[in-house]
Amino acid sequence: MSDDALSLETRPDLPDALRPWLSQWPRESWTRPDLHPTAQFWLKMHDGFRIQQAEMRRLGEAGRAAGADPLAVHPRLIGLLGGFLQHLDHHHRIESGHYFPQFRALAPGIEAGLALLDQDHDVVHARLEQLHAAGLAFHQAAQARAPAARDALLRLADVLEAAAPLLDRHLDDEEEIVIPLIAVRGGPAA
Ligand SMILES: [Fe+2]
Ligand SMILES: [Fe+2]
Repeated sequence: MSDDALSLETRPDLPDALRPWLSQWPRESWTRPDLHPTAQFWLKMHDGFRIQQAEMRRLGEAGRAAGADPLAVHPRLIGLLGGFLQHLDHHHRIESGHYFPQFRALAPGIEAGLALLDQDHDVVHARLEQLHAAGLAFHQAAQARAPAARDALLRLADVLEAAAPLLDRHLDDEEEIVIPLIAVRGGPAA
């Protein structure tokens, strides 16, 4: 595949060369109790992001309903968004700065996959900045009880919808590189 075909926005999944141990540890095997604890923790973190994202999207869509009061979803949506942005940014920093360098040492052949995941982090980060800006605009309008709160909520809902497939793709693909790698080669230092 060309570099373009591997971009987070367009790729349908990963080529097998970037996830060399997935056939040995396929997704169906990840519920095994003997899966390395670091891999189990990784999956749990990712599921947390998926759950938070789904709830924010649900609230954003609720705001689209005719006659919906944007102030009704404001506290929960903004509370969730703040935690989500902070935790996901922190998660990516730890992955790119702490875990990926150790994985490179454990398995040099995984470099291409890790480079792609690092690139994904930059793409996702740009979306997090958009979410932050849209969330702030909604928060300020809602606090002021301004009529613009409804449009600001719709804008936030749009940004959430646009970002979701990218984050989902990144989480799935990262798991298919990292979880089998840890299962086969052992975990990095915490
Ligand atoms: Fe990541
Ligand atoms: Fe991750």
